[in-house]
This record gives sequence, C-alpha cells and structure tokens, in this order.
Amino acid sequence: MTDTVTLTIDGKAYTLPVVRGTEGERAIDISKLREQTGLISLDPGFGNTGSCESAITFIDGEKGILRYRGIPLEQFEENPNFIEVAWLLIFGHLPTPEEYERFSKLLTRTANIDESMKHSFQGFPRSSPPMATLSAMINALSCFHPEFQAVDDLTQLEGVAARLISKIRTIAAYSYRRSRGKPLIYPDPKLRYVPNFMHMMFSQPYEEYVCDQDTRDALNLLLILHADHEQNCSTSTVRMVGSSQANLFTSCAAGVGALWGSLHGGANVQVLRMLQHIHKGQMTPEEYVSRAKDKTSGELLMGFGHRVYKNFDPRAVVLQRMAERLYKRMKTDDPLLNIARKLEEIALSDSYFVERNLYPNVDFYSGIILRAIGIPVNMFTVIFAIGRLPGWIAHWAEQNESATSRIARPRQVYTGNPETKYVSLLRD
Ligand code: ACO
Repeated sequence: MTDTVTLTIDGKAYTLPVVRGTEGERAIDISKLREQTGLISLDPGFGNTGSCESAITFIDGEKGILRYRGIPLEQFEENPNFIEVAWLLIFGHLPTPEEYERFSKLLTRTANIDESMKHSFQGFPRSSPPMATLSAMINALSCFHPEFQAVDDLTQLEGVAARLISKIRTIAAYSYRRSRGKPLIYPDPKLRYVPNFMHMMFSQPYEEYVCDQDTRDALNLLLILHADHEQNCSTSTVRMVGSSQANLFTSCAAGVGALWGSLHGGANVQVLRMLQHIHKGQMTPEEYVSRAKDKTSGELLMGFGHRVYKNFDPRAVVLQRMAERLYKRMKTDDPLLNIARKLEEIALSDSYFVERNLYPNVDFYSGIILRAIGIPVNMFTVIFAIGRLPGWIAHWAEQNESATSRIARPRQVYTGNPETKYVSLLRD
C-alpha cells in the first residue's frame, strides 16, 4: 500500500505523505499543503479531518468496535470498575493492585472541596442548570490548586487527575442538593467512588442512603461506557483549549460546556423528554418517528444517529442489555422502556433511518437506566460528564506530553465583503 498520494493542482503534481494507524486506517498528512500549494482544506464539522494521532481509544464505526487502550468495551461489562478504567485511560495500562490502592486513597483524601467554594453554590439561583454550575466550579478549582497550573510529570498527573475525578462528583452532588434546597452532605471516607457519590446525592443528615449492588454495578458500567470516545466534540474542545497551554481544570470546564449541547451529551435529557411526551399520550411512537423524518418539523429522533457509527453503536447494545437486566433484577417495569423498544423497532424498519445508517446511540437507553437507579433528569448530562472526565484528562495529558503538539488554530475560507471604504452613516 502506498505511503504517499499525489495531488494535481493546475497541472502541477504534489506528493503528500500518508500516515498509517496501528489498525490499518490511513490519513493524508496535509500539514504542509498550504506551504507547498497555497491551498488549504475545507471540512465543515471536521467529518474527514484527523486533528491528532492518539493512542487512547480506537473506534471502527463501520464494524461497531470501541476499545480503550486496546481492550474491547464489552470486556468491562462483568464486575465493572470505573476507577480501574479511568486509570487505564489516563496512564495507558491497567493499574497494579498497589497503583489502584494508592489512587483510591488519593481519591478518598481529596474528595472534599474547600469550605469557601461551598459558599459559591449559594451564589447561584436554585434553578441553575447543574451543567452550568459544574463548569463554573471545575474552572474555580484552578483558583484553589495553583500548584497544577502546569503538569510536568506523572506524579503531578496522578495528583491532579485524582483531585478532578474525586471532586467532580462532590461538586455534582452539591449542585443537585442546592437545587433541591437540601443540606450539603460531606463525602464519607469509608465509601468507594460510586457509593460515595450516591451517598452525597441522597443521604439525609438523619438517614443514610445505602447503595445496593445493582445500583453500584449499573452506575459503574454506565460511567465506563461514557469514559472516552476519541475526538468527539467535548474532547476536541478540551484538547483545543489545552493546546494553548491552559491548565487541566479550565480545559475540562470548557469540555463540560461542549458536552451540554443537545446534539452531544445533552441528548440524554432530550431522549427522556421525548419518551415522556409519548407516554403522556401527546403523540404515538409512529407519529413521533414521522415528525423526526420531516425536515420542516425541527424535530429529530433523539438518541439516534452518530457521526462515526454507521452500523451500530456498541455502547447502546451494552446499555440496552443492562436496562433489560436491571429492570428484571429490580422486578419492576418502566413504561418508557417499552416506548423506547417500540421507537427502535419502528425506526430500524423504516427506510429513512436504514438508508441514512441511523441507529440508537449511547444516549438512547442511558436515561432509562439512570431513572431506574433514581437519578433525576436534570442530572443526566452531569453523570455523562463525570464518566467522560477520565477521557478528557487522558487526551489533555497525551497532548501535553506530545513533542509535536501545536496550538490548535484552524483556518477559514473568507466569504465576506471585498475591501470596502469606511463611510460612516452617523455623520452629515
Ligand atoms: N433523527 C432524524 N434524522 C436524523 C437524525 C435523527 N436523530 N440524525 C441524523 N439525521 C439525518 C440528517 O437530517 C441527515 O439527513 P439528510 O441526509 O436527508 O440531510 C442525515 O440523517 C445525516 O445526518 P448528519 O446531520 O449528517 O449527521 P451528523 O454526523 O452531522 O450528526 C448527530 C450526528 C449530531 C449525532 C445526529 O445524528 C443527531 O443530531 N442525532 C440526534 C441527537 C443525538 O442523539 N445526539 C447524541 C449523539 S451521541 C453523543 O454525542 C454522545
């Protein structure tokens, strides 16, 4: 297979190198294109643009493959352990028992946030969207940890990663408590990552919330399924902000903003609203699917479609399995699960969705699982952010360590006015 391609412009041939990935994917390296030819490439939405080389996550969208550091996603399904996977993503290998214990202890030690930061929660209206609070508070961690303005070695990376992964769950839980007018609950050093989060969310000063094994496994697996997805919108945002040498807290705060949008992580809230809308009888599943196909309606079938997956999203397959299992174990039913099944059945046999390769994505079933374990709808995208954080940290660190990384600065094709004389309309 060729290692170069030839591009002919105005009769002149230019040779461009081809870069090869470890799974055989190939890319034309156009980094010298403008220098050599005076032309740039144009790719709105970056559908065909590789922004970097990365060794963290591999996706084959045609075959429905997702691997973290080479390990297929499905292999984390039994005994899911989010912190083990977080370490894997950030440091490139599974933790040894010593590394795991050390990191767990660091998570426990750093779970609390500075007392003065707690007052900041009171400064936000109770109705604040938790994603806005989350982004602001993660950014505020820069003020409390000036020692991590720059991260120069692995020990520092471990320290900052532990603080961020631990504190995001405290911040998330506090923003929820504040929105409900409930007292803030301190982290409990006896509890592991997921039960501690659930404790801060749902315990009362007079009554301890006890996290059962089903809930613990479900949330661990859900966080793992969200933990990384290579150069998606929020991760690319983190990398872009980090490329200016901004610190990790600020870069991840920007990632929260990108994740919030309803075409990205915010879709999990929209999916639930769609299912509730149908459940209330305002529309049948068939009518909803018809509307989603009508370009003038402004509606989409939320939780369907993906830029990369054109066959199936492996995360959605695991999530559907998990939803079915969870409801069976809990011996309950959720009418929204039946509606989701029905919508999927209709869409998957409809030529509109089949021809466009639109399948359920990670957001289609995640809300149903979060509902089953008692997470309120306005916290769905926050949970996604907690899950995605190790991926953001891994990408920020990979870029930080790379000798070839440069500030991200795309170009454009200008389509505005030609040179125009300034003649003010404000003068006589
Ligand atoms: N419902 C109806 N039609 C859809 C949907 C949908 N959910 N998704 C895509 N389409 C249509 C588009 O209108 C387009 O139709 P056309 O070819 O007739 O113009 C065609 O399918 C191709 O879609 P694109 O817009 O090119 O897909 P793109 O890669 O730009 O967007 C995205 C992907 C944003 C995920 C899109 O499918 C979407 O908006 N889905 C709904 C929102 C959602 O679930 N987002 C979560 C994604 S997963 C994540 O970010 C964690």
